[in-house]
Amino acid sequence: HKNGLQVAIDGPASAGKSTVAKLVASRFNYIYCDTGAMYRAITYKVLKNGIALDDIEAITKIVDSSQITFEPTAHGQKVFIDGEEITEAIRQEDVTNSVSAVSAIQSVRTKLSADQKQLAANGGIVMDGRDIGSTVLPNAEVKIFLIASVDERADRRYKENVRKGINTSLEVLKQEIRDRDYKDSHREISPLTKADDAIEVDTTSMAIPEVVETISKIILKNIN
Ligand code: CDP
Ligand code: CDP
Repeated sequence: HKNGLQVAIDGPASAGKSTVAKLVASRFNYIYCDTGAMYRAITYKVLKNGIALDDIEAITKIVDSSQITFEPTAHGQKVFIDGEEITEAIRQEDVTNSVSAVSAIQSVRTKLSADQKQLAANGGIVMDGRDIGSTVLPNAEVKIFLIASVDERADRRYKENVRKGINTSLEVLKQEIRDRDYKDSHREISPLTKADDAIEVDTTSMAIPEVVETISKIILKNIN
């Protein structure tokens, strides 16, 4: 690919995908694409419009008529839908609890994965999600499957919430992560799976810089 490699990072909820993908992208001067934010953005708009999660027709209209955009900042990315900034709003509990249902819909996956393919066409991109290595970018030069134990992932989310001043119980977070992993792995269309040629990285006892280093080494091996 003319601008560099395609790097796919998949894995279950809270494995560290977006944190690590962002850092790896900036290290190689690659674009970063958070595909989860795209599914969250559509879910946000569906909820905002009071559309029922089983109203496939109305949800299809939403996904086909919405414009999702990203704007890089010093500390990450701002997310917009139809010009409205939704960076914080898409992380709220209501979106998190409905996103797996919306992302299981065929029309939603078809539209968003086509957009993702287009964005990655020239390479030089780190894309994180659930089906990037398996479906969106099957020819990606680097495919990483990031995992960590449920306890560790819930603990990470818990600490992140504490930092943000949000009060949640560790048990509730653990259950929420289990539920979402189950739904994402068992849906009919492009479920969360490790691609055959993906490299699994278990980050349960790894700090962020160590994970970034591990993935960077894999990328360097593929560049040379
Ligand atoms: O960051 P977190 O692990 O909470 O999830 P995310 O990456 O923001 O993704 C939110 C949800 O979007 C997932 O639970 C999936 O239901 C869906 N998703 C998907 O279906 N396919 C992707 N490539 C990325 C996300
Ligand atoms: O994108 P995904 O849902 O996979 O995870 P994330 O939002 O990047 O990471 C979830 C939380 O775990 C964040 O607060 C990260 O700072 C933290 N994290 C960590 O403590 N150690 C790692 N090796 C990776 C992430």
